[in-house]
Amino acid sequence: MPPLYHFNPSFQAPQGSPIREMFKYMAQPGMISFAGGYPAASLFDVNALAQASTEILAQTPSSCLQYGATEGMNGLAEALRAVMQQRAPSADATPLLVTTGSQQAFELLLKVLIGPGNCVAIERPAYPAAIQALRLSEAKIVDIPSDAQGMDTQALEQTLEAGARPKLLYIVPTFANPTGASLPLERRQHLLALALRYQFLIVEDDPYGALRFSGEPQASLLELAADIPGASEWVIYLSSLSKIMAPGLRIGWMVAPAEILRRCIIAKQTGDLCTAPWMQLTAAQYLRSGRLEQHLPKVVGIYKERCNAMLNALHKHFGQTLEVTAPDGGMFIWARWRDGSEARALLEYAIAENVMYIPGSAFYASAPDPAQLRLSFATASLEEIAEGVARLKRAHDAYRAKEQ
Ligand SMILES: Cc1ncc(COP(=O)(O)O)c(C=O)c1O
Repeated sequence: MPPLYHFNPSFQAPQGSPIREMFKYMAQPGMISFAGGYPAASLFDVNALAQASTEILAQTPSSCLQYGATEGMNGLAEALRAVMQQRAPSADATPLLVTTGSQQAFELLLKVLIGPGNCVAIERPAYPAAIQALRLSEAKIVDIPSDAQGMDTQALEQTLEAGARPKLLYIVPTFANPTGASLPLERRQHLLALALRYQFLIVEDDPYGALRFSGEPQASLLELAADIPGASEWVIYLSSLSKIMAPGLRIGWMVAPAEILRRCIIAKQTGDLCTAPWMQLTAAQYLRSGRLEQHLPKVVGIYKERCNAMLNALHKHFGQTLEVTAPDGGMFIWARWRDGSEARALLEYAIAENVMYIPGSAFYASAPDPAQLRLSFATASLEEIAEGVARLKRAHDAYRAKEQ
């Protein structure tokens, strides 16, 4: 039978998010999930957000309830520039666009810059929604290997020397999703030098950088670029309130060279006209109150405890069988079975034991390592972490007994 509808080529047989497809199991009664990329709901600053929202509605009802400017409400843009002043004091954050989550910022960039067949470099493994967006925009994905210190910039250089010409390179340099890895200073500088030499844009996605619980703070690529003549032209910085305040706000932002930003604003006009003004003004009110500075360190402290608890439990139950990368922040532990176990096949046994994680294959554009997995420590309590890892041990034993 001929098809009834004639979809665009990239939507003829689209793949949904491999992670969202697991949500049905996450709702299973008694499930302990290390799977989601969600921040801990129990740590949302509910009362202060409710207060900010009510206050701002009472003060400026028409601004909250009316359409707003596509580039963002002034109050929030100002508050986010103040955040940028802390994060990247040398960078010029004047050209700033408020977006509906940082996911939209990436989507806008693809719309403005990337056409079918254009080359885009990413890390290997990478954030799945970025891979999915690149696939839907029909970009040619070149994935560059990474290790416990993030993208291997030597490998990137070799790929460039061999003739690859990315228009854009997408990277999460600090507490990456899924690996938790952070790029050391030398690699950051090397990456910037390569961007200048080969003239590609770096999209620095930084939703997790403020969730540091150990190690020394690292300068963002945007900040480092400010000291290298010409480099700022090649860096776009994305961030989000999702992991530091709440993803339900759907607020992200982009700092980019003015020419690029202007086009993204036009692209956003046809996307959603504007990001919800009430949410923007609520976030602005909250940020101005200084509340985030009080609240975030508590969240980060709890993530640190949870991360340590998970690392200890994994070590206790699996010892050398599981190779684990300990992060300095963010929400994820990246691990790899050393005994030939396959994370996808093992997941069925884990779900039967009521515990979940994400198999590493979800994070690859091609040729995944089947032994890898991502565990989030953000949402589970210390008791759930201990119990969940014990369940994972039982699942692993059952899997080994049956499948190996
Ligand atoms: C690396 C990365 N970038 C972007 C996002 C999307 O964030 P937002 O909620 O701001 O759209 C996520 C969410 O998990 C993420 O892990």
